[in-house]
Formats: sequence, C-alpha cells, structure tokens
Amino acid sequence: MTKVAVIGLGYVGLSLSVFLGTKADVVGIDSNSEKIKSLRKGVPYFYEQDLGLYLKRSMQNGLIFSQEITKESLDRDFVFVTVGTPIDKKGKIDLSNIKKVAQIIAKNLKSVRTRPSIIIKSTVIPGTTLDVVKPILEKNGLKEGIHFDLLTNPEFLKEGSAIKDTIYPHVTVIGGSSSYAVKKLAKFYASIYSKNHKIIQTNNVTAEAIKYAANSFLAARISLINSLANICQRLPGTNVDKVAEVIGMDPRIGTQFLKAGPGYGGSCFPKDLQALISFANSIGYNPVLLDAIKSTNSDQVFAVMNLIKTGLDRIQGKKIAILGLSFKENTDDIRESVSIKLIKLLLKQKCKISVHDPKAIENTRNVFGDKLSYHKTTQDVLKDSDCAVVMTPWEEYKKLGRKDFQIMKHPLVIDTRRIVRVDDEKINYIGLGVGT
Ligand code: UDX
Repeated sequence: MTKVAVIGLGYVGLSLSVFLGTKADVVGIDSNSEKIKSLRKGVPYFYEQDLGLYLKRSMQNGLIFSQEITKESLDRDFVFVTVGTPIDKKGKIDLSNIKKVAQIIAKNLKSVRTRPSIIIKSTVIPGTTLDVVKPILEKNGLKEGIHFDLLTNPEFLKEGSAIKDTIYPHVTVIGGSSSYAVKKLAKFYASIYSKNHKIIQTNNVTAEAIKYAANSFLAARISLINSLANICQRLPGTNVDKVAEVIGMDPRIGTQFLKAGPGYGGSCFPKDLQALISFANSIGYNPVLLDAIKSTNSDQVFAVMNLIKTGLDRIQGKKIAILGLSFKENTDDIRESVSIKLIKLLLKQKCKISVHDPKAIENTRNVFGDKLSYHKTTQDVLKDSDCAVVMTPWEEYKKLGRKDFQIMKHPLVIDTRRIVRVDDEKINYIGLGVGT
C-alpha cells in the first residue's frame, strides 16, 4: 500500500487525509494537541459535510494521527505539506509555518532510507518551493533528486464542499523539476481518480502561480458582479441576477461565480489576493486591477450598511437581526466573514444585534461574547426586530416567506443574496442589486 504523511490538518490537510486514508496508509500530523486529541476520538474539530463519515471510514482503514514529524512519518512515498500560509501585518505572505516544518523535515530526513516526495500543497507565493523550502531541506547535505524529491501541488477545494472537491477535483497540477517524481505522483493520483481526470505536469513556480491566478480571477469575478450590482441598485427596474443570468449564457463568460453579495470572505481570497499584491509590488509591478478587486470587496459592506440606512430612518438603538454569520453556506467558518464586519459597524452605531446561523453561532460567540443575542431559530431572531439582514445563502433561509417576517416589529428585509421571496406590501423588501 502507498504510504503517505500529511503535515498540517486544516481544511486542506484533513480533507486530504480522510480521503487518502480510504486508499492508502496515512498518518495525519498537526502540532496542535487539541486537534489531534479530537481527531483521535474520531471527532472533526470543524464542520464540513461528510468529514465525520470519511474520518471514521479512514480510521477503520488505519488512518492515524500524530503530533510530531518523526523519522517514521517521513519514511513514506509521499509527504504532503498542508500548513497554513497567513499574511503578516504588512500584508506579505508569512512563511513561518512552512519554514518550521521544512526545518523539522530536514532534521529527520537524514536517517530516512526511502526517497520521499515532499509535496508543497499549501498556497505559497511563486518561488517559495525552490527558493525557500529547497535550501532548508538541503542544508544538512541532502540533495533533491537523490535523497528526496520536491513537488508543488496546489489545492483548489472550497469550504462547504471540501470532501467532495477532494474526491472529485476539476484538475490536478503537479509542479517539479524531476520527471521521475512528477510521474510518480501523477501515477498515484491516476490510481485514485477517474480515468478522465486531468493531471497537468509543469514546473514548481508555474504550479505556484496557477493557484494565485485562479484565486485572483475568481475574486475579480465577484468584485465585478458586485460593482454591477451596485449600479443596478441605482437603476429602477433592473435586477443583477437577470443581468448575470444572461451574460452567463455567453460561453466566454460562463455561469459560475456571478452571484452578487456582501463581498467575498473566507480564509483564501482575501489573504491570497493581498499576498499576490505584495508579491507583485516586491518584483516591480504595480497591480492596479488587483488593488481594485480588493478595495471593491472591502467597500461592499458599506453598500449593505447603506441599504440598512435607506430602510430605517435612524439606525441608532434599532434591533437588527443578522441571518447568516459564516462567510458562505455549509461551513461554520467565520474567518473574514462580511457578517462579522457588518456586526462591528452596527455595534458602533449602537444597534442591538441578534444573530442566527445554522452552524457558526459558537465561533461568533467567541468573537463577540455577550454583546449580541444568539438564537437557535429564525423565528426567535426575527421576533420584534426592526430589520432583518440576510447575509449567508443557507438553504434554510431560502424557505423564509411572508409569515416569517410578519413577526418582526417593522418588517424590513435586506437580502444581500436575493434568496428570500416576499410578496407582501406590508413587508419592505430590499434586495442588493435590485433597482427600486
Ligand atoms: C476559494 C476557492 O474557490 C478555492 O478554489 C480555493 O481553494 C480556496 O478559496 P472558498 O473560499 O472555500 O474557496 O469558497 P468559495 O466558494 O470560493 O467562496 C468564497 C467567497 O466568495 C464566499 O464569501 C462566497 O460567498 C463568495 N462568493 C462566491 C460570492 O459572493 N459570489 C459568488 O458567485 C461566489
């Protein structure tokens, strides 16, 4: 059986571990003892559909978890590095996790007899694998291509569908300088994915660049459709969804990532776009378009704020119900969630905030404590409120209708995703991107 180690058990590493764990001999490694403790009990420490199921299945198949990178954990065919790559205070990529892991690997690699492929799956700025990781791995006299191989293999999974995306990726990109190592990993992937699965073989730096290109392109689409939504908002009779539907029929444009909303959040787009901007500047290019994508996105919360102000005469002291706290549906992740930013702005305006989310209440409580009132049902959160703001497109909110909003003190609904249907003159419905 193929032997695999996965270092760093966040969304990418844990999804990969539990999927590969059904096919290979896998050890998942993370320095966080709480995470390891929970995983050893078979309990995922974040919410993701089917994660618990695959975790159980893989553990039955021999998946184990460890807190340390040891000689044994490197004596493997493939060692995936999936640690976080945040940005620092200046907006530059912070490679300290990757460097730390590379140092520990280098120390333990000396006594490993196999020639493992070290695979950088974390999102890293172009040049990192060869200019940063390789020198660390080689500093004890070991050589790439002799004692180990070094590959770049970016991940494209989305939170909310992380397991599905891991099992059925749209493409696999493998970057490396040793064709032996690239082919070895390609063969492994070919054995676990379907026959028609696309595997692209390239060099390390191109593989790194592809990941940033994909994320900045997707972020650009969202900022562009949000700009168009803000224009439609001022054009009575228009609806950004109709515009998106028809432009999406042009095969050059395509239908996906054309949903206008409160702006993108999450652990990837904001940080990756910022890291790419800093990197571009550092190599002598001023990326004005990337800057505009970023600022359009961070301004979008004010578009939501303006809709609230349009609907209410005075917002001070008003009771505002926020529906949806996670940055997108089907996750409990609130990192860079626009809901959190909106709540902070509303609290500054002395609003009373009550919140609902099917999964993200606990994470939100950790940020705001007793500053908000937390509710388990949409009925409870809407009761007696002056304004409801639909922020995250959870399936449950799509079922809300006239009766649900009638229990509000003043039925004003701000729908940033245009998923609620209310045909009632007594309810003031404002859809983001719908001109009235
Ligand atoms: C993203 C990339 O899609 C994925 O390929 C990469 O590996 C990690 O970053 P993720 O952040 O998990 O994935 O979720 P995604 O579905 O891309 O949504 C990101 C944000 O964009 C969310 O806040 C979402 O609500 C928003 N979004 C997405 C829109 O506002 N409109 C859209 O049409 C699509």
